Amino acid sequence: MIYISKIVNNRPIEKRIEYPYNIPSIINLENIILNKEVTFITGENGTGKSTLIEAVAINAGFNPEGGSRNFNFKTQDSHSELFEDIQLIRTAYRNTDGFFLRAESFYNVATAIDEYFAQSFYGGSLHECSHGESFLALLHHRLRGNGLYIFDEPESALSIVSQLNMLVRIQQLVKTKSQFIIATHSPILMAYPGADIFEVAIDGIKLISYEETEQYRLNKYFMNNRQQVLFELGFNL
Ligand SMILES: Nc1ncnc2c1ncn2[C@@H]1O[C@H](COP(=O)(O)OP(=O)(O)O)[C@@H](O)[C@H]1O
Ligand SMILES: [Mg+2]
Repeated sequence: MIYISKIVNNRPIEKRIEYPYNIPSIINLENIILNKEVTFITGENGTGKSTLIEAVAINAGFNPEGGSRNFNFKTQDSHSELFEDIQLIRTAYRNTDGFFLRAESFYNVATAIDEYFAQSFYGGSLHECSHGESFLALLHHRLRGNGLYIFDEPESALSIVSQLNMLVRIQQLVKTKSQFIIATHSPILMAYPGADIFEVAIDGIKLISYEETEQYRLNKYFMNNRQQVLFELGFNL
């Protein structure tokens, strides 16, 4: 199910002169069409993925610190002002569940979940799990479907096996009418069949194929040419 079909940058070009509107990828951003249940946003560090995804999450009604819409814990106001000129075009459908995972503040999310739900629901406190275990617990027990899920680098705490587990869980949630928007560097997550992958780069944001992603190309090259790459990096082998 698609709940948000388009992200539009309404800031006039001549006013895109200071942060965050002057981030190179965002200066050139007019709109992003979301017509797949799973959309990935990828690209080099510092190109503006988190800034963009945060603006989308805030416009979708989430707390900028992350969490579901029910969580109202105090924020540090660390989000940018981009949300003011970002507009989301919604479809006729309404999601009944949602979650925004902001990579930097997962600890706060775990705290909010601890306070909000009976601990027995998770079989204990999320703080007693590892970061990766907490996130898997959240995916499996907290997300209910009919949802809009916005994640920023969710793979950061996940092993390869856990990322494969996440792929399967995403599919289950898509089948129960969910939409995902995920900023990621993970070549495993981006392999989700039928997803759109947008690459955020200095010259703008464009739709690319899985095989065109840097994560796919460089991982594959490195695995197949490990000795040569290490040699070129100056290692004495
Ligand atoms: N408060 C700020 N003022 C000015 N520039 C910032 C601020 N916060 C982040 N930036 C810059 O904005 C750019 C985009 O950051 P970010 O969205 O976090 O990138 P990504 O998530 O793609 O790694 C970076 O170059 C970063 O240094
Ligand atoms: Mg980021």
